[in-house]
Amino acid sequence: MVKIAQLHCKRLNDSINCTEFDCGVEPLNRFLAVRALTEMSQRLSVTTATSNGEGAVAGFYSISPTQIGKEFLSKNIGRGVPYETVPGMRIGRLAVHKDHQGNGTGAMLLRHALQKCLKMSEEFGGRVVVVDAKNDTAAAFYSRYGFKPIKDDPLVLVLKVSTLAKIETHSNS
Ligand SMILES: CC(C)(COP(=O)(O)OP(=O)(O)OC[C@H]1O[C@@H](n2cnc3c(N)ncnc32)[C@H](O)[C@@H]1OP(=O)(O)O)[C@@H](O)C(=O)NCCC(=O)NCCS
Repeated sequence: MVKIAQLHCKRLNDSINCTEFDCGVEPLNRFLAVRALTEMSQRLSVTTATSNGEGAVAGFYSISPTQIGKEFLSKNIGRGVPYETVPGMRIGRLAVHKDHQGNGTGAMLLRHALQKCLKMSEEFGGRVVVVDAKNDTAAAFYSRYGFKPIKDDPLVLVLKVSTLAKIETHSNS
């Protein structure tokens, strides 16, 4: 395991070596190597990566705008929303290279992603952060940070942005 002292995150670009990234989950490796830049050019999602100091990717996440049907959300999240769907931001993928797992990199990447979601929400609106967990262990990871599964799908979890804003205000004061 190699510890990353501080995260230097940057928008993915074609000078970053993505081909050797291995988080242990093949669809996530493939997304980074094959799809991530294309999705950016198609304006479907934007990927942010952190490097291991030698130019290779140590971890990444991707974010896109999203909306989610009120029927999948708790009453608390849907209350007062006069639409059928609730707008938000989706962290569709987040992964850490095997060499760096278990050292806090995932937690730092998630915090970086959530700060970005908070800024997006302040600029453009967005009431929830939605995450797609690839499996139960990934869902357990997100649960540690207050994410709750939506109705009918334990692998899609949400966090209300107002809760996030309170956590950020608290941790900065
Ligand atoms: C899930 C993943 C992103 C976690 O990253 P990481 O760098 O290993 O996690 P961290 O070291 O930052 O751990 C942060 C906290 O989450 C906990 N945690 C880590 N992985 C966990 C898991 N799978 N289930 C439950 N808790 C987990 C850690 O114990 C730690 O808790 P602590 O702060 O109390 O010590 C990483 O293991 C990974 O990339 N896995 C493969 C891809 C994947 O499943 N991605 C998930 C989204 S699709």
